[in-house]
Amino acid sequence: MADADTTEAKNYATSVPMQNVPFFLKGSNNLDWGMKNRLAQIFDPTSGRTVMLAFDHGYFLGPTSGLERIDLNIVPLIEYADTLMLTRGILRTTIPPTYTRGIVLRASGGPSILKELSDEEIAVSIDEAVRLNVAAMAVQVFIGGEHETRSVHNMTRLVDMGNRHGIATLAVTAVGKEMVRDAQYMRLATRMCAELGATYVKTYYVDEDFDTVTASCPVPIVIAGGKKLPEPEALQLAYNAVQQGAAGVDMGRNIFQSKAPAAMIQAVRAVVHENLSPTQAYDLYLALKESDKQSVEN
Ligand code: 5RP
Repeated sequence: MADADTTEAKNYATSVPMQNVPFFLKGSNNLDWGMKNRLAQIFDPTSGRTVMLAFDHGYFLGPTSGLERIDLNIVPLIEYADTLMLTRGILRTTIPPTYTRGIVLRASGGPSILKELSDEEIAVSIDEAVRLNVAAMAVQVFIGGEHETRSVHNMTRLVDMGNRHGIATLAVTAVGKEMVRDAQYMRLATRMCAELGATYVKTYYVDEDFDTVTASCPVPIVIAGGKKLPEPEALQLAYNAVQQGAAGVDMGRNIFQSKAPAAMIQAVRAVVHENLSPTQAYDLYLALKESDKQSVEN
């Protein structure tokens, strides 16, 4: 039966226009609801940034230092991450399905560290990504690498499949040993990935003109931590990147190879989400490390 109530009994707030709230992430306003919802599982809507904990290294490196036992070394850290970047093997075997933040699934692979790393293929089907309820798929893109074109096609195929299902694609700009890591190269690599459809891009921080890399890329950029640095330097790196426009970090070795990984990830969070200075964040790291040590002793 039709609604028999009179309009007088209801409040339609006819004088209040419904607001059109723009989505908080750069370049993402025209995406569909499902994709935006998944991006909000990766990026914190309050700060607009993310601390991704990356531990997918085993897909070409095997059990590298700090990742020998993901159940013991990494699972205790996941509560501090905004999202996890990992392979489906580790997700299924080791991560509790009660984890409710976003999952960024490693979706390319093939060669080991013993071979040419750019020789990758897509390594996950879209059905599998949907079944695992992931927020994004991550694919390596080797601009200037031996298999540049194939790696770009891997990305564009994942973008097409992901867009059909509202799953984001993270393009990871991979830098070969022989390539120069400078702003000019990073602008080229990140911009190509964005133009060809990546939802967001991961790249390396460069000391000079990194702000031109973030400015010329129309989608969010997160930075890789790279090889292990002393903690104050890693915190400085994260600080420089976010202050120059990065939407966060996708950090692995500088967290899980730290002497105090739980303290380190919390200090990185403070830099990324609260704009703490590197010095303040290092003090926080030392304090958390000390209190963790005392709670183990007691
Ligand atoms: C492997 C990756 C890693 O996830 C990435 O490099 C992040 O880890 P790290 O901070 O250790 O560099 O994409 O290719």
